Amino acid sequence: MSAFIELEGVTKGFPVGGGVYPALRGIDLAVERGEFVAVTGPSGHGKSTLMSIIGVLDRPTGGRYRLEGVEVAGLSEDAMARLRSRTIGFVFQGFHLVPTLTALENVELPMVYARVPPAERRRRAQALLEWAGIGEHARQRPVQMSGGEQQRVAICRALALDPPLILADEPTGNLDSHSGRVVLDQLAGLNAEGRTVVLVTHDPTVAARARREVHIFDGRVEWDRRRPDAPSAAGGAGGG
Ligand SMILES: Nc1ncnc2c1ncn2[C@@H]1O[C@H](COP(=O)(O)OP(=O)(O)OP(=O)(O)O)[C@@H](O)[C@H]1O
Ligand SMILES: [Mg+2]
Repeated sequence: MSAFIELEGVTKGFPVGGGVYPALRGIDLAVERGEFVAVTGPSGHGKSTLMSIIGVLDRPTGGRYRLEGVEVAGLSEDAMARLRSRTIGFVFQGFHLVPTLTALENVELPMVYARVPPAERRRRAQALLEWAGIGEHARQRPVQMSGGEQQRVAICRALALDPPLILADEPTGNLDSHSGRVVLDQLAGLNAEGRTVVLVTHDPTVAARARREVHIFDGRVEWDRRRPDAPSAAGGAGGG
């Protein structure tokens, strides 16, 4: 059986000027269900590019990528979107909330697209906000909330459709250390309940919370280390 996330010799080139810039130069990576992986490496070396491949936002230019055993190269844009919405919740450094919507409406949004009935999606969104400790902010818009609160709303939105995989690109990058810890605790908690978490970070203390660190350098995996105290990923329950 193949791994949950499986990249073999993945390359990604971006057209620049007359040529192609090789942002990923042959990535081999397998992540099992239930793992908690930190992706580290210097700026501009391909971490976000890798996340957009893993997140099925973009296709590799070469090599193979399978998510849940599905080969992404062969999928139409629609099929990619369906795979994304059922499998992946995204969390970004800049929160990416819709500024005109309340916290509750932001969390409801993926469920609107997935045609979840209004009463049910409102109930679920409110329950997620309560879980995140920000139930009292449900009617506020992003501008009325702190960065840490906005990121917790974004995590709730990522969880709206109950995806087995959470991808987070610098989720604590714009937060003070206390808010960063709260957000990281939530991501670690989601992993503890069986979700697979892959996060990009520049912060060694954030990386240290993950069970495995994959270091990207120059578009390749330079090293890939499991923490000695890490419980094995085997038996990860998958989706929450
Ligand atoms: N759409 C694009 N078109 C052209 N070049 C791109 C594009 N996206 C990324 N790149 C280039 O690919 C390289 C890797 O970018 P990427 O965003 O993956 O780096 P990163 O490791 O996430 O950096 P950071 O830590 O600063 O976020 C960079 O040199 C970047 O300029
Ligand atoms: Mg990046």
